Amino acid sequence: MELIFLEEVGSTNAYVKQHMSELSDSAVIYTSHQTDGRGRLSRKWIDTGENNIYMTFCLKPSCEFQEIYSNLTQYLSVVLCKTLEKYGVDSKIKWPNDVLVDGKKIAGILSETSMQGSSFKGIALGIGVNLNTSQALLDSIDKPATSLAVILNKEIDREKFLKTLTDEFFLNYNRFLNTGFAMIRDFYLNHASFLNTDISVNVLGKIESGCAVDITQDGALVLEKDNIKNTLLIGDIL
Ligand code: BTN
Repeated sequence: MELIFLEEVGSTNAYVKQHMSELSDSAVIYTSHQTDGRGRLSRKWIDTGENNIYMTFCLKPSCEFQEIYSNLTQYLSVVLCKTLEKYGVDSKIKWPNDVLVDGKKIAGILSETSMQGSSFKGIALGIGVNLNTSQALLDSIDKPATSLAVILNKEIDREKFLKTLTDEFFLNYNRFLNTGFAMIRDFYLNHASFLNTDISVNVLGKIESGCAVDITQDGALVLEKDNIKNTLLIGDIL
């Protein structure tokens, strides 16, 4: 595995997309500062200081695994929960891939596909983890957020965390490609923050509501309302 450190970059995801042809499969790019960090749904991911995680996996899975490309963010959310467990911290997953501790967001995950014309070049699978973000900075974020340092009340070694996370990622990555979401479904269900509660989901601007009753074998969210089941493939829980 190739590990590349950049002191500062606009966005590690954008960097991986731009350099996809030169980077090897499974390369990991990380930085101390992102000046133009990207979040889901065209949001920004703000830089909260150098001792946090801003990293992107450069992945070039064969087209035969195309159906599970979209599940890679869920795989990474599970990998992060397992990494946090090693620090003695219990976390939850908010479908599809936000990781929360005590109901507050500790990390964000964003997958972007790189295409050249109509041909698939690879996936930039990015993750930002609030590792050493101070309480003061967390308070300035518009949604409830936490950091590992605040939870454990101590400074976290970034390189050690990064190694634990990447080792955990590559431990089962090939098996995940071959098995798909079913491989992590039990763990995901056990860590789901929203099951059996009434929720609303923004699906490309349309609000869908109901009781979150299940996650399918493909990682989709099942909502139930008036005895009618509605399976959602994408969306943002409000
Ligand atoms: C979210 O909106 O929750 C997803 C945030 C993803 C942030 C990470 S930080 C590293 C990588 N590079 C980016 O520009 N974004 C992702």
